[in-house]
Order: sequence, then structure tokens, then C-alpha cells
Amino acid sequence: MTHLDIKPYISEEKIQKKVAEIGATLSKKFKGEPVVAICVLKGSFMFYSDLIREINADITCEFFGVSSYHGSSSSGEVKVTLDLANPVEGKHVLLVEDIVDTGLTMNYLMNSIQSRKPKSLTTVALLEKPEALKVPCKIDHVGFQISNEFVVGYGLDYQGYYRNLPYIGQVQNFQ
Ligand code: IMP
Repeated sequence: MTHLDIKPYISEEKIQKKVAEIGATLSKKFKGEPVVAICVLKGSFMFYSDLIREINADITCEFFGVSSYHGSSSSGEVKVTLDLANPVEGKHVLLVEDIVDTGLTMNYLMNSIQSRKPKSLTTVALLEKPEALKVPCKIDHVGFQISNEFVVGYGLDYQGYYRNLPYIGQVQNFQ
């Protein structure tokens, strides 16, 4: 494993406060109605599991596996590694992403879910890099907007590692 020099960037405390805030907003929005919450694998598993515990609604869980990132820059190609196990037609859907970088993955996911005719689609991303956007991508709820730098932790990886950090760190001296 490559050992990176990681500088703490968004603390565990700040993340948990933001997750609770988003959860409260979504609880009001869904008003206790049934919601299918989709976890985008692998990066959003930690954010997703914290967030759904803060939402007061009847939630069922679905997992959508995609891979679009190799090393430290987006490849631009989205590959489905695990499709949804159940139809979402006629249901309220909450799509939970870790980070929106170029927007290509979120765009792909939104189109894919819209084509399955949900009753509504709400999007949430913990992080967004507005300067990196390559395609228009409007996210309903964003935790933190960050600069165009590579981050790891709280689900986000570098070559598969660092997902288990409880905070988000900025990678230093990265080529
Ligand atoms: P996009 O398609 O370029 O928006 O890339 C989205 C995916 O790339 C995310 O779901 C992440 O898995 C990954 N990604 C983007 N930026 C970072 C980063 O700074 N650190 C780790 N993974 C990232």
C-alpha cells in the first residue's frame, strides 16, 4: 500500500453534525413516507449508514455499485458493478453519493434511476467539487463544497485504502 501524507480536512465531529442536519431536512421532506435509499458503492457506505439513521421515514435499502475512478483522476467511464436488486418504479428514491467530482457518475446514476420511473428522486452528496464539474449536475442536498483536491477517508479511498478513516483528509504532495 502507498502511504500518503494526509492532512485532516473535515473532522469527524463536523461530518456528524452535517449528517444530522441533512437527516433532519430529509425527515421533514419525506414526512414518514416510505423511501428507497440507494447507497452508491463503494464510497458512500459510511455516509449512507450514518445518514439513514438520522432520517425519520420508512426506509428500505438498495445498493448500486459503480466504478468510474482510477488513481487520482476520473476516467470518465462509468461501469456498473452491481445493479439494484429491486424495481423502484412508483417509489420515492433517495440517491446517496459520497462525492461529486466531474459529475459524470451522478449524471449516469440519475439517468439510470429516472428511466426506472420512480415517484420522486432526491439526490444527496456529502462532498462536491464545483471547480471539477464537467457536466451539469444539480444535487438537491450537498454536505460540503470543497476545492479541486484529492481527499480520502469516511468511505473515500485511494487505491482501495483509507476508507476506514473516520474523518476526511486532504492528500498532501500528490502527483
Ligand atoms: P465523478 O464521476 O468524476 O463525479 O466521480 C465520482 C466518483 O469518483 C466518486 O463517487 C468517488 O468514488 C470518486 N472520487 C472523486 N473525487 C474523489 C476524491 O477526491 N477522493 C476519492 N475518490 C474520489
